[in-house]
Amino acid sequence: MADQYEVLGKAPGPEELKKLSSGNIHLTIKKLSAGYGKMEILHDLDLFVSKAQSLCLIGPNGAGKSTILHSIYGFTNIFSGQIEIDGKEITNLTPAEKLKSVGIAYILQDNSVFPDMTVEENLLMGGYTKENTSEAHEEAERIFQKYERLRKRRHQPAKVLSGGERRLLEISRALVMKPSVLLVDEPSIGLEPRYISMVFEILKDLQQTEKKTIIMVEQNAKKGLEFADIGYVLVSGQIAIAGSGNDLLNNPDVGRLFLGG
Ligand SMILES: Nc1ncnc2c1ncn2[C@@H]1O[C@H](COP(=O)(O)OP(=O)(O)OP(=O)(O)O)[C@@H](O)[C@H]1O
Ligand SMILES: [Mg+2]
Repeated sequence: MADQYEVLGKAPGPEELKKLSSGNIHLTIKKLSAGYGKMEILHDLDLFVSKAQSLCLIGPNGAGKSTILHSIYGFTNIFSGQIEIDGKEITNLTPAEKLKSVGIAYILQDNSVFPDMTVEENLLMGGYTKENTSEAHEEAERIFQKYERLRKRRHQPAKVLSGGERRLLEISRALVMKPSVLLVDEPSIGLEPRYISMVFEILKDLQQTEKKTIIMVEQNAKKGLEFADIGYVLVSGQIAIAGSGNDLLNNPDVGRLFLGG
């Protein structure tokens, strides 16, 4: 019986991964080795995702899923390999540079809303690196137009928000910078079931209507794979299995090892 490590025997190569991305590839990771300090967590990792596509990373605890997002954003030590946006290398840009010049935003998974600040103040915090604050205000206004749940509470302290509304505020705060790529770590974590579908619907709308590219880590593998166009299974810092979200949902190895089937 295959275990999590045996599936690495059939690991897909870059050509196979590339086929899962329709059209123009927006974000590319090529043979990336990265980690923390001197410790290498990701080994020779490739990833391809197109504009307005979504990719979900699943896999066991400690596999390196969050480390992939950290590496794209610029929180890790990169030992070798490249990260590119539209073919332009961005491997060594700082997180602030990535947010500003190439539009990569990271949505924090922990409770990062400031409870005593108003919803509006929290939202504007997302534009702190924007030199042009009127642009941040315009974008905040657009977000209030779009999300009534936030608009109704814009002058109230964020602590009055429900769990789902708080997650919406965390997502919206990243949108103030008008990023093209959203890195989302465990959007469903800590949420009551009734809010989980709301958050996934918001992300789907951002992908489809606003053409955001979404790279997500999701502990709830079934939900994540139902959401995403592409799924990668990460084991020990390597891509072990990859396919469309649907293919992975129906893959017997994935079912047995990661979906509790
Ligand atoms: N800031 C850090 N400094 C040092 N080591 C870290 C740091 N963050 C993560 N690690 C280590 O890197 C490895 C991969 O961690 P990572 O958080 O990427 O896993 P994950 O797949 O996201 O797991 P989980 O499902 O538990 O969130 C783990 O062994 C972890 O201990
Ligand atoms: Mg993680």
